[in-house]
Amino acid sequence: MKNPQDFFGFKKLPFSLTPDPSLFFLSKKHLEVAKGVYSGLIQNRGVFVISGEVGTGKTITSKVLIDKLSKNFHIAYILNPFLDPNGMVKSIADEFGIPAADKKIDGLITQIHFFLIESMKKEGRGAIVFIDEAQHLQDKSLEMIRVLSNLETSSKKLLQFVLVGQQELLKKLSKNNLRQLAQRVAFKAMLSPLDLSETYDYIFYRIRQSGGTGKIEFNKISIFSIYKLTRGYPRSINILMDNILSLAAEENKKIIDSMLVKKAYKKTLPFPLRYFPFFQLIKGDL
Ligand SMILES: Nc1ncnc2c1ncn2[C@@H]1O[C@H](COP(=O)(O)OP(=O)(O)OP(=O)(O)O)[C@@H](O)[C@H]1O
Ligand SMILES: [Mg+2]
Repeated sequence: MKNPQDFFGFKKLPFSLTPDPSLFFLSKKHLEVAKGVYSGLIQNRGVFVISGEVGTGKTITSKVLIDKLSKNFHIAYILNPFLDPNGMVKSIADEFGIPAADKKIDGLITQIHFFLIESMKKEGRGAIVFIDEAQHLQDKSLEMIRVLSNLETSSKKLLQFVLVGQQELLKKLSKNNLRQLAQRVAFKAMLSPLDLSETYDYIFYRIRQSGGTGKIEFNKISIFSIYKLTRGYPRSINILMDNILSLAAEENKKIIDSMLVKKAYKKTLPFPLRYFPFFQLIKGDL
């Protein structure tokens, strides 16, 4: 079986599923969200929410923001949202390299506060906590975020938060018992799937960034088919495109037509249907 990377001569596989910031495509929406959150953080506005449906690019957008911000801020990236409030405080301390000398949580919060004040004084550097999959956070942990977001000097917030999660996160934040945290959210951003022309640009952008310029062709209908099958959800596009490239290599084809797309799509079906949100609508002819 031929390997698509060698067959097409790509430097790397253009559609791997890892959120690789070097392959970040700025759709209108991704740009709006990244810019909004970035400038809010620079302006020290406090708490931010990035939400959106499954596979729309929340994690990759956060990684791009972290890359851009890490020169000027201390960054903690928390990927385990199932932590209880104490576990969360410990993870944040750990990410900032604060040795948890005090095992009691109040003491640890004091240590974090001290670290933040010192780093602001000595380096002029603020701190940001990104929490991914934040839709799973317990109410108590969200309440702890509110407490931590209160750490400030007389003129500056010392610790800012970016909560990243699926739309359930917004529902959670609208609950009465979390209204104090909800009130602190300075900017709520929502990612959405790509439209047809963005899907086209996304595919070519990732191919170009992977060293594939001029090495593969698509007929126009095939891009339309890819859009129709994936409804512009980037993760669904990646899964489908990965299969298209493998199949094309197997069949020795460098031009992608919609027959090939259809055949590759059948191979994607072992993936959970949630990656193809409109599956029921798209069984018809392409
Ligand atoms: N703007 C983009 N540019 C390049 N790749 C993207 C973009 N948006 C999404 N992707 C790709 O789509 C896939 C899914 O993206 P990501 O993991 O960021 O989605 P998510 O919204 O965090 O999903 P989940 O809700 O499951 O956590 C990844 O492979 C990612 O690289
Ligand atoms: Mg994610």
